[in-house]
Amino acid sequence: MNIVILSKGPGNISTKRLVEEARKRGHDVRIINYTNCEARIEQSNPVVIYEGEVIKGVDAIIPRIASSYTRYGSAIVRQFEMQGVFTTASSIAIVRSRDKLRATQLLARAGIGIPKTVFSRGRLTTEEIDRLVEELGGPPVVIKLARGTHGRGVVLAETRKAARSVLQGFYLMEEEGTNILLQEYIEEAAGADIRAYVVGSQVIASMKRQSINLEEEFRSNIHQGGEGAAVKLTDEEEKVAIKAARAMGLNICGVDMMRSERGPLVLEVNSSPGSAIEDVTGRNVAEKVIEYVEHNAKARRRKDRVGA
Ligand SMILES: Nc1ncnc2c1ncn2[C@@H]1O[C@H](COP(=O)(O)OP(=O)(O)O)[C@@H](O)[C@H]1O
Ligand SMILES: [Mg+2]
Repeated sequence: MNIVILSKGPGNISTKRLVEEARKRGHDVRIINYTNCEARIEQSNPVVIYEGEVIKGVDAIIPRIASSYTRYGSAIVRQFEMQGVFTTASSIAIVRSRDKLRATQLLARAGIGIPKTVFSRGRLTTEEIDRLVEELGGPPVVIKLARGTHGRGVVLAETRKAARSVLQGFYLMEEEGTNILLQEYIEEAAGADIRAYVVGSQVIASMKRQSINLEEEFRSNIHQGGEGAAVKLTDEEEKVAIKAARAMGLNICGVDMMRSERGPLVLEVNSSPGSAIEDVTGRNVAEKVIEYVEHNAKARRRKDRVGA
């Protein structure tokens, strides 16, 4: 098969792993930096041009779109979709997953547990902020930028006073169109969250990420110094992960959840999960992704031939 990985970092380890496994399985694989792609849009002929070359004959794409390029990257994914090319993540699902507000709404609608969350217009008065904090059961509360990633833009406000000043600071950014969420703090998770790597209708690897020192840092992101360890999920956690993937419309994704007193609560669903989980769990995740592409891209082509 002709597989294209859309990635702006050819040196990125997750991208390299996919290339390695695709080659091992006999595929032609190419990395295309989507930030250097153009989309030519004309009647009945959606074309992607990469550094002056028209990209043709692609069987499948694996998008690895950076969060700072969500809009542009998803537009390039959409251009491939319009050509009928199989993608491991649809453009719409990528966009959904990048907005914590939108994602939280979709997950809640599907009946998936999420931390209690409130969202309101910005520029609230002190009294209004206090009321929101109360609605969440009082401080501490977690305040999040809807488009943050790697733990950046996620703040723990331990007092009302802190909640007010953090929100006021964030409101400056809201003017640029970034939504802000307030969430109950899941204390019993004790600075840990679970990453479940979903491929199709299965969890193929799972790890627990723990913040290095809860006194210093409540976020468990690897980018914030968090440490990963393999973990076995409960049946309920597995079910929730698969349900969350489905609710987001992502066949390949990383579902992040917290272990709470009332069961697993999903924080977010990542549309380009990294390969760090391979080192932690010893599972060959990249191979599973390529296998998924083989089964599904082919099935689709067969269907196309019979005119379905
Ligand atoms: N409601 C919460 N209660 C406790 N910890 C949280 C909560 N929300 C987020 N965290 C911690 O902060 C980290 C980053 O939050 P997350 O929503 O996943 O944002 P990001 O997209 O930046 O990773 C999580 O991995 C978790 O450790
Ligand atoms: Mg996260």
